[in-house]
Amino acid sequence: MFKALVVEKDEDGKTHADVQDLDEARLPEAEVTVAVEYSTLNYKDGLCIGPGGGLVRHYPHVPGIDFAGTVEASSDDRYKPGDKVVLTGWRVGEAHWGGYAQKARVKADWLVPLPDGLTTRQAMAVGTAGFTAMLAVMALEDHGLKLGDGPVLVTGAAGGVGSVATAILAKLGHEVAAVTGRPETADYLRDLGAAQIVPREDLTEVTRKPLESETWAGCVDSVAGAMLGRVLKQMKYRSSVAAVGLAGGAAIEGALITPFILRGVNLLGIDSVLRPYGDRVRAWNRLAADLPMDKLEAMVQPATLADLPSLGADILKGRVKGRVVVDVNG
Ligand SMILES: NC(=O)c1ccc[n+]([C@@H]2O[C@H](COP(=O)([O-])OP(=O)(O)OC[C@H]3O[C@@H](n4cnc5c(N)ncnc54)[C@H](OP(=O)(O)O)[C@@H]3O)[C@@H](O)[C@H]2O)c1
Repeated sequence: MFKALVVEKDEDGKTHADVQDLDEARLPEAEVTVAVEYSTLNYKDGLCIGPGGGLVRHYPHVPGIDFAGTVEASSDDRYKPGDKVVLTGWRVGEAHWGGYAQKARVKADWLVPLPDGLTTRQAMAVGTAGFTAMLAVMALEDHGLKLGDGPVLVTGAAGGVGSVATAILAKLGHEVAAVTGRPETADYLRDLGAAQIVPREDLTEVTRKPLESETWAGCVDSVAGAMLGRVLKQMKYRSSVAAVGLAGGAAIEGALITPFILRGVNLLGIDSVLRPYGDRVRAWNRLAADLPMDKLEAMVQPATLADLPSLGADILKGRVKGRVVVDVNG
């Protein structure tokens, strides 16, 4: 038997999540059984713990889009009992049972060996949000971002992706401008390395101007909506925006073609879910090297499986700061 957060749906379509004891025989068929140590909380987890957001296919469901732990059994040569592993993406926790459990069974292809220098807890302090932030920074670098180019904007900065992006960019030596709608997080963001705090309201008015002053040398954007429309008009010549999320809306409001054709601005789509293995290993190794562990620890809010129903509701309201790390044995 093992403990898991199980979401069930009643006849009225309402979902309800609670911690249950499950028999190991209920785990899905796959090659690798993992004794999960830590999981975490991402925006998508909020949806999968609660209303489902169209992501969950079958109930009862075990959410948790990422986890880190130790291999318990494996029928695949790449993994053996005792190996430490990390999983993000592949629709685990959405279409497949996920990491909010003491055990998970998944395809070997979906796992990555825990990088040297990281504990399973640190890997989950990073989690999908931090892994995606690293992919975004790597994409900006691949498209020419260099030290000294100017300030790099991070939107949704006090959230999971934003916090990790802020810490990585600052550690690399970039001047980080952190956009937040929560002024009370200013000290937290400065401690992570932000040089400048930009109030959310400065970037949420939809304007009709084709371009604004060239201000940002790069941007990691978790928000989209009206904010991305404004940010694109403020990007420097031939700079790039890494589009990660849609916390502020799925459209790009007020966007025009002018930043792309007059300033050569790039909009880089970042997907973490189906990312090929080689990129995953590169990103995890960069995280182990470029993310200051003291800053990572400062982002962590510890939690247990039982805390998740209320934390899931909080993240959907944009009320979670930094990274929630779930000790599934806690
Ligand atoms: N592409 C991928 O593979 C991938 C991977 C992970 C996450 N994501 C997406 O990235 C986004 C962020 O994920 P996360 O885990 O970092 O979530 P999160 O912790 O909730 O952070 C989102 C942040 O966005 C800001 N925000 C929320 N609502 C807003 C609004 N209406 N207008 C403007 N800003 C708003 C808030 O930051 P402030 O309080 O600082 O303003 C909030 O903390 C989500 O949309 C998520 O689905 C995508």
